Amino acid sequence: MKKQSLLRISLFLFLFIFSACTPQALPSIPVQTEDTYAPLAPDGVPSAVGEDAFYKQADASIPERVEDLLSRMTLDEKIGQMTLVEKGSIEVADLPSLSIGGLLSGGGGAPVEGNNPEKWAAMVDGFQQSALESRLNIPLIYGVDAVHGHNNVVGAVIFPHNIGLGAANDPALMAEIGRATALEMAATGIYWNYAPGVMVPQDIRWGRIYEGYSENTELVSTLGAAYLQGLQSTDLFESNITIGTPKHFVGDGGTAWGTSTNSGYKLDQGVTEIDEVTLRAVHLPPYQSAIDAGARSIMISYSSWGGMKMHAQQYLITDVLKDEMGFTGFIVSDWEAIDQITGDYYQAVVTAINAGVDMNMVPYNYNRFIDTLTKAVDEGDVPISRIDDAVRRILTVKMEMGLFEQPFSQPELLAEVDSDAHRALAREAVAKSVVLLKNDNNLLPLDKDTPQIFIGGVAADDIGIQSGGWTIEWQGKKGAITPGTTILEGIENAVGAGTVIEYSKAGKFTGDTEAADAICLAIVGEPPYAEGKGDSKSLKLPSNELRILRNMEEGCPNLVVILISGRPLIVTDSIDSWDALVSAWLPGTEGAGVADVLFGDQPFSGTLSYTWPASVEQLPVGSSSEAPLFPFGFGMTGE
Ligand code: BGC
Ligand code: BGC
Repeated sequence: MKKQSLLRISLFLFLFIFSACTPQALPSIPVQTEDTYAPLAPDGVPSAVGEDAFYKQADASIPERVEDLLSRMTLDEKIGQMTLVEKGSIEVADLPSLSIGGLLSGGGGAPVEGNNPEKWAAMVDGFQQSALESRLNIPLIYGVDAVHGHNNVVGAVIFPHNIGLGAANDPALMAEIGRATALEMAATGIYWNYAPGVMVPQDIRWGRIYEGYSENTELVSTLGAAYLQGLQSTDLFESNITIGTPKHFVGDGGTAWGTSTNSGYKLDQGVTEIDEVTLRAVHLPPYQSAIDAGARSIMISYSSWGGMKMHAQQYLITDVLKDEMGFTGFIVSDWEAIDQITGDYYQAVVTAINAGVDMNMVPYNYNRFIDTLTKAVDEGDVPISRIDDAVRRILTVKMEMGLFEQPFSQPELLAEVDSDAHRALAREAVAKSVVLLKNDNNLLPLDKDTPQIFIGGVAADDIGIQSGGWTIEWQGKKGAITPGTTILEGIENAVGAGTVIEYSKAGKFTGDTEAADAICLAIVGEPPYAEGKGDSKSLKLPSNELRILRNMEEGCPNLVVILISGRPLIVTDSIDSWDALVSAWLPGTEGAGVADVLFGDQPFSGTLSYTWPASVEQLPVGSSSEAPLFPFGFGMTGE
């Protein structure tokens, strides 16, 4: 080796060791002006940071840490933080190199390696590990729709969908469900939940009706806030806070039939044709309650208002939600929703970001989004102050969540997934959610020693049907998709040793259904659906379900009908043939909760959180002067 190069190497080594040993003072925070955004080392390359960087000091104040971190970031890194990618679309090497801010699993977004809690944790931790290798080591925020429990995960406890929880109307129960969900999520390394849905749906033909607690604003406000407080509890685990995402801002539940901008959909992603006074009175209050309860992220709606997509509404997002209502967290867009503002992608991105969207759920082509937003900043169409505001909000929440200190899953919580305590909680929620609508001759509750029970219907013995959409798959799926207790199993476990149960999917029995001591239970309902795919014009039971009912109506003098559905259905023509009618909504995995009320172990206490119309002509709610089949708040006690 030449003398010269030896010298160079030793000089380099000396400088390296010297710099490593020098006690470093806290970095001075560079002065930030409106148009300087990329503090660079003299050679133009941003330098790496050490573990002692100010923003990494857990005990320093969050606003100061955020300013320190922001001052070190290049424009590319800032835009990376504003980017939310569907996990199957990410090139893992891009996580650190682009400083991607967030990943999500959409409905059904399980690990490719298999679907169980351990594999989820390994997947999310793996992504996190890669993201942390970025220059500034900023942790990812990983999101999921845990809308009724950690519902994409096989083995997680599935709680009733919100329509049932609206009927239960129990804020303390909501807080418990929020806590349980956060624990199951943290076990898999996920601390960001796209829930609660705080829509105030006015038309039950909507395919998302079951995601909403009620048509009543106050009920939605109370239950949504209670759930959020439970989910975001600070005492759940030492290191982290799980955050919720009230959605979809605002007026998603007020769209008019036939206005959807999505072909094939009718109400979903449609137009909310109401004035501002009504929008504020009916749809806005749950967001104020959620903000007061500590909401740190809010998702924008696919729907439109006042001739404009919600994602383009600077007035509502920035002036109303952030400035007037005091929302200091960050705004996330819905799935590919910015693209819907206009066909011109550049214009769509400029409009949405300037309107106040802070993080874009891209979710697929993130390079296109990053390039587009970079160009928009370069051209001066999106001011750097807007970018800084968005990134400041995102980083603040990430720090509040403890992600900088503890970005990974919590293996010691794996036992919480599927725990007896969570199953018991879900079973209690089911029992409280069931609504007794008709009960001739006080047929219900049933005697546990009823000699013969004839149970008909596919839905009686199907975890997938009783769980509905957003369960393991986006659209849900029939069959034994995750462990749980079907309603049939719940009944079998409840009855006395002497009771004979005959089960027939078709409702055709060999035993004597007309015997004086026999009871028939028809358990029928809707197949699973989600979002606009569930928009329904007629709200009729599917024909195969009607056939089961017809079979049983004929031969059963004592017929109890149990509906498994995401909403009230039109049953006006049939109800006279039934002796009792029970609505169990979409109870989830703990079907035993239905048996608890059928056999009197728990009282019937659920009440309708939506008006039950006599016909679809009475929709949306309040548009008809004719009496509904059952009014809002109706529910018998069985006593
Ligand atoms: C839904 C949101 C959901 C998101 C991510 C969208 O299609 O509208 O409610 O949070 O997908 O799965
Ligand atoms: C995803 C959902 C998402 C939907 C949007 C699906 O492919 O799994 O999470 O809400 O697309 O349309």
